[in-house]
Amino acid sequence: MEPITPKFPKLLHGGDYNPDQWLHDPDILATDIELMKKAGINCVSVGIFAWAHLEPREGVYTFDWLEEILDDLYRNGIYTVLATPSGAKPLWMSEKYEEVRRVQENGVRDRSGGRHNHCYTSPYYREKVREMDRRLALRFGKHPGVILWHLSNEYGGACYCPLCVEAFRAWLREKYGTLDALNLAWWTHFWSHTYTDWDQIYPPVPNGETCTHGLTLDWKRFVTRQTVDFMKMERDAVKSVCPEIPVTANLMGFYDGLDYFKFGPELDVVSWDNYPQWHTRDNAEIAVFSALTHDLMRGIKRAPFLLMESTPSSTNWTPAAMLKRPGMHLLSSLQAVAHGSNSVQYFQFRKGRGSSEKFHGAVVDHVGDRGPLAIARTENTRVFRDVKEVGERLAFLNGDGRLYGTEVRAEVAIVFDTENRWAIDGAAGLRNCGTKYVETVLEHYRTFWEKGVQVDVTDMDGDLSGYKLVIAPMLYMVRGGFERKLKAFVENGGTLVATYWTGLVDETDLCVTGGFPGNMTDLFGLWDEEWDALPDGFTNGVEVDGTVYTAREVCARIHPTTAEVLGVYTEDFYRGEAAFTRNRFGAGTAYYLAARTDTDLLRRLYGTLLETLGIRAALPGAVLPRGVTAHARESGTARFVFVGNYTDARANTRRFSPENG
Ligand code: GLA
Ligand code: ZN
Repeated sequence: MEPITPKFPKLLHGGDYNPDQWLHDPDILATDIELMKKAGINCVSVGIFAWAHLEPREGVYTFDWLEEILDDLYRNGIYTVLATPSGAKPLWMSEKYEEVRRVQENGVRDRSGGRHNHCYTSPYYREKVREMDRRLALRFGKHPGVILWHLSNEYGGACYCPLCVEAFRAWLREKYGTLDALNLAWWTHFWSHTYTDWDQIYPPVPNGETCTHGLTLDWKRFVTRQTVDFMKMERDAVKSVCPEIPVTANLMGFYDGLDYFKFGPELDVVSWDNYPQWHTRDNAEIAVFSALTHDLMRGIKRAPFLLMESTPSSTNWTPAAMLKRPGMHLLSSLQAVAHGSNSVQYFQFRKGRGSSEKFHGAVVDHVGDRGPLAIARTENTRVFRDVKEVGERLAFLNGDGRLYGTEVRAEVAIVFDTENRWAIDGAAGLRNCGTKYVETVLEHYRTFWEKGVQVDVTDMDGDLSGYKLVIAPMLYMVRGGFERKLKAFVENGGTLVATYWTGLVDETDLCVTGGFPGNMTDLFGLWDEEWDALPDGFTNGVEVDGTVYTAREVCARIHPTTAEVLGVYTEDFYRGEAAFTRNRFGAGTAYYLAARTDTDLLRRLYGTLLETLGIRAALPGAVLPRGVTAHARESGTARFVFVGNYTDARANTRRFSPENG
C-alpha cells in the first residue's frame, strides 16, 4: 500500500491547532508544544481559519509567524497538516467584494461573518484563494514538517447568486445541448413548465420551482460539481508548486448536500470529521452508525482514510454537551482505526478563550494557560489523560510499524448512492412521512456489525467484482448502467439482496416503463406491481418457514415469474402473496425483500448467507455478545483484530475467542 503521508508514514495523532488565535501570547505557544509531547501528539492541522493573519490587508502577505510555528513544531517532532484558509473570509475582503458572499435560497446575500459561506463561483474569490494557496505552497511546500494539505474546511452548502445561476445554466446547456432534450428529461410539460429560454431556468427554491424533480436533482449535482471544481482549483494551486505533498479535504460523513463519491478521484486521501453523541442513547446503536459512516468514508476511495476531527470530550452544538464517559475516548478512537483510519485527530488542541467554540471540548482546557503549573494541572485533567492514553496506544501500533500499511478487506458490499438518496428524498407520494433510505441501509448493515464482518460501502459507480455478497437496499434510481453491473455480478456467481422500491426511475428521475424493477425483472424473476405504504403504527407480517416477521412502512405487491417464494404476507387483501423471494440468475442468486421488516428477518437472511457463502468474520467462529464487535485490518503478513465493547458490562474475551483463529 502506498503510504498516505509519505514524509511521515505513521498513524497520526493530534488535531486542529489554531495558534493564530494566540499570537499575542507566545508563552502559550511554548506551553502547547510541551503539552503536545506529553500527550503523544505527532501531528497538528494548522491555519484552517487563519486568513486574517496570513493576509491582514489586501495583497499584504505575512507568513513569518506561521513559519516560526511550523519550525518549532517540527523541531519537537510534531508534523503539520497545513490548511488552505478558504473556509472563512477576512472581513476586509467580504466588505469590499460582495460577490464573495453567498446568496441564500431566498435571494438575500449574506452579510460578512460566519464561515463556510463563500460563493464558489466568484472569480474574485477563486483568484484570491488560488493566489493564497500558491503562496503557501511556495513558502511551505518544502518544509520538512509539512506532510499533507488540508483543503479548506468542510466544503458544503450552496450559493444562489447570479454568478452561480449563470454557471448552472451553462452546465445544463453542456449536459443537454437543447432545451427540447432538457424539457423531456425534466418532464416539464407537466403544469406548463416548459422552458423556452435558458434564462428561465433557476435553482429550485421554496417560493419558486420545487415540483420539477429533474431540476432538483440536477441542481444538487451542479452544487457538487461546482464545489469539486473549486476544490480542484485549490488542489491544483498547491500541487502545481509541490506535487509531492498529498491533499485531503475533511468531509462530513452522511452530509446530504454533496455527493462525496465525486470527491474521491480528486483527492489523494479522504478525511472526515466524526462527532457521535456517545451516551445519549444506547452506545451500541451509536457505534453501528459510526461504523457504517467510517466504512462509507473509506468507500469513497476504497482505501484507508484519516479521522481529521473528533472531540476528546464534548461538543458545543448539541442539545446538551455530554462528556465522554471513561473508556469511550479510547474505544471511539480505535473504532476509527479499526475501520481503516490512519489517524486520530481532534477538534481542537487548545480551547479558545472567546467566541462560540470556547466551551467545545479540546485537549487543553482553560486551566492550561502557561508555564509549569498550567502543564501540571492540564496533565491531571481527565480529558488530557484520555488523549494521552490514545497517544500511547497509537505509539504502540506505530512502534513496530506494523499497523500502518494494513487495510480493511471486505467480501460484502452495501450500495449507498447519494444521487439515489436525493431522488428518493425528492419523490412525492411513496411515504411522505419518511422514506428512510439511510436508516434502511443502516438496518441492513447492522447484522454484519453484530457478527464482526467487514463491509465496504460503494455507490453505483463502484466495482462489484470480488465481492461475494452485494446488498442494494432501495435502489430507487438506477443510473449509469448499474443494472448491468448487478446482472454481471449475479451471473458470475454473486449473491445480491435488493428490496422494494428498486428500479423505479432512471437517472433523470423519469419512471421506467415496462415493469419494475426497471430492466431487472429477469434478474429478480418477478415484477413489482404496486406498494402499500403503511402509515406509522400499521403493520403487516411476512411468514418464512412458519415464523412471522413484522413488516412495516412499505409492502410491495410482487408477481414472481421465475423467482422462488421464501416468504408471504400474513395480513390484508394481499395475504398469502409473495413478500420475499429468491431467483437463480446465471451462476448466482438474487433475493428480493418486498417488505420493510425489522432486523430479525435481516439477521436470519444474512446469518444464513454468511455461512453458505463462507464469508469470513474478523474472529471466525466467534459468537459476539450484544454490543460487542470485531473488525480486522490486514496486509500480506499481518492481521490486527480490534474488538470493541460498547456496553457498560465487562465482556469475557474467552467467551468469544475463536478456537482456531
Ligand atoms: C466542525 C469544524 C470545526 C469545528 C467543529 C466543532 O467539524 O470543522 O472547525 O467547528 O466542527 O465540532
Ligand atoms: Zn455564488
